[in-house]
Amino acid sequence: MERPFFGYKIITQTHNFIGPNAKDESKKFAGNKLACASCHANAGVKSYSSGFIGITARFPQFNARGNKVISLEDRINGCMERSMNGKVMPLNAPEMRAMVTYMHWLSQNTPVGAKTKGQGLAKVELLDRKADPIKGKVVFENHCASCHGENGEGMVNPDNETSAYYIYPPLWGEDSL
Ligand code: HEC
Ligand code: HEC
Repeated sequence: MERPFFGYKIITQTHNFIGPNAKDESKKFAGNKLACASCHANAGVKSYSSGFIGITARFPQFNARGNKVISLEDRINGCMERSMNGKVMPLNAPEMRAMVTYMHWLSQNTPVGAKTKGQGLAKVELLDRKADPIKGKVVFENHCASCHGENGEGMVNPDNETSAYYIYPPLWGEDSL
């Protein structure tokens, strides 16, 4: 199977193809300038970053939120509506087909129903007490601000017409989840 570049491009430059900067008005499905890859790191190949390797082997699947069986396209549209603050894409839109093709390409060697090492997100130990924003500020300054900015505003990519809109995505505001 040939490497499906169009799907890869949409996932890494979502704003240019199906977001606010799309040339065709009717393609402006996403409402913010995040990329799918802002969260699905390295375009879905990084472990424990909700990756896309093996994903076609896990769909269709039962979805507890909607209490029904959903397709991969439905799941993508779930992220379109919530994470991307956007609209549902038609199942046969060329851009939807391209993203699904990219995911199939990444999943070529995964048998149906199999698990992929590093799929999903890492488990976080939740506190049994209220989180402390003062301590959180210290953690943020020490571990996050160097990339996401002192105020979590992120950093815009000067080459955003040909690649992702953000080098470091913002953690709050209009263009955040
Ligand atoms: C702001 C963060 C964010 C953005 C942006 C985002 N997603 Fe997601 N996505 C998530 C999270 C969180 C999950 C759930 C991960 C989990 O529970 O393992 C998820 C789950 C998914 C899943 C199911 C993964 C699985 O293992 O079952 C797919 C497919 C998906 N997203 C596709 C997309 C696509 C395509 C885009 C862009 C159009 C996108 N997402 C944008 C955060 C995001
Ligand atoms: C070395 C740079 C770097 C550091 C340090 C870093 N991030 Fe990120 N973060 C990124 C990049 C780059 C992305 C986009 C995904 C990618 O390309 O891997 C991202 C994505 C995110 C996202 C999802 C997209 C969004 O904007 O909502 C969140 C949330 C996030 N980081 C939070 C944090 C937090 C909290 C910390 C500190 C504990 C942190 N990051 C530390 C570089 C960094």
